[in-house]
Amino acid sequence: MLYIRRNMKPVEIAKGVYDVGVNDWNIRDFHGYSTHIGTSYNAFLIIDEKMTLIDTVKKQFADQLLDNIAQITDPKKIDYVVSNHTEMDHSGGLPRVMHRIGEDKPLFCSKMGAKNLSRHFPQKWNYHAVKNGEELSLGSRTLMFLETRMLHWPDSMFSYLKEDKILFSSDGFGQHYAGHEKFDDIIGDAIMPHAKKYFANILLLYAPLILKLVENVTQLGLEIDMICPDHGILWRKDPGKIINAYVEWSRQESAEKKAILIYDTMWHSTEAMAQAIGSGLTEEGVAFRPMKLREWHRSDIMTEVMDAKAVIVGSPTLNNGLFPTVSDFLTYMKGLKPQNKIGGAFGSYGWSGESVKLVQKELEAMEFEMPAPGVKIQYVPGKDDLEKCAEFGRQIGKAVIG
Ligand code: FEO
Repeated sequence: MLYIRRNMKPVEIAKGVYDVGVNDWNIRDFHGYSTHIGTSYNAFLIIDEKMTLIDTVKKQFADQLLDNIAQITDPKKIDYVVSNHTEMDHSGGLPRVMHRIGEDKPLFCSKMGAKNLSRHFPQKWNYHAVKNGEELSLGSRTLMFLETRMLHWPDSMFSYLKEDKILFSSDGFGQHYAGHEKFDDIIGDAIMPHAKKYFANILLLYAPLILKLVENVTQLGLEIDMICPDHGILWRKDPGKIINAYVEWSRQESAEKKAILIYDTMWHSTEAMAQAIGSGLTEEGVAFRPMKLREWHRSDIMTEVMDAKAVIVGSPTLNNGLFPTVSDFLTYMKGLKPQNKIGGAFGSYGWSGESVKLVQKELEAMEFEMPAPGVKIQYVPGKDDLEKCAEFGRQIGKAVIG
């Protein structure tokens, strides 16, 4: 059965548990991340003796959220609100919601959540800071809170509905995806590229914490029948699939013998170098993908970087420095802390030629292994220059193959 999701009718995801969130169909830029297909802000309503709302939505969708809740119950009947995460795509609707349901209703969050929410909103809400492992009875059901600091902010936590074995995982296991499908079994594997992109651009730098979290959850022996993130589809058929994918992505072992050639170009010289480097890689049996920065969004490139073994970056020299798109990407990639990569730097120049050294310095700062010195070519590469580039590609290819 195909469930039509959001902006229409809330869906009962388990007995007495509803997804009352909204789709943001038209967002195309989520703080610098390209959301080609929009996103969703999921929020969950649990009907029990204590009616409980888990998370809200972006400010401009707060009325839609309240309308969704009103299709199930009078919002004023909500007894508890849980805020798993302060970031405003999940808390922006809080002022509107609290105003509607009653400003004195208990608001459960982590200790850091109470601190961070009060830095966002001046209202003196009835904060209840919960500890890791603390439980809250809703009547016939129990919520348990798990602190998940830095996944994605210091305030982040998960909430686990014990009797139904549902994990409300905030940003964790999410995807920026707006669609009519609600569950993993409806959309199938088509959701995985979205989950991968989300991980590469939002969570990669916290990979060690994710491995620790998965270990802790395993030690606690939590049984999980459904994972409900705050973005995208819900994992009910096979929650283990996304958990295993997170473990694999977090390990950053780059099992694929692939290289990414990331570059920009002014008069096609750096581009010609990229093509020659690509030939060298191919000769060594390494698949490569050239990605020109003004044609590809940084967040799509980052998704490819995540499972590439080699990341080779080319920049022309412009005004004694890097080409601006290359600077932008290097800054972005550095922040996401990719591990275990082989790097390489190349570029053309006219008279001063600083770019290759600058790229190399940045890649070394990211602790990339650099098996070959960077290649720089003046003006337009000739036959010998292109052979030099191909040889550079072969050297990196050999390092990739190991
Ligand atoms: Fe979906 Fe960190 O917010």
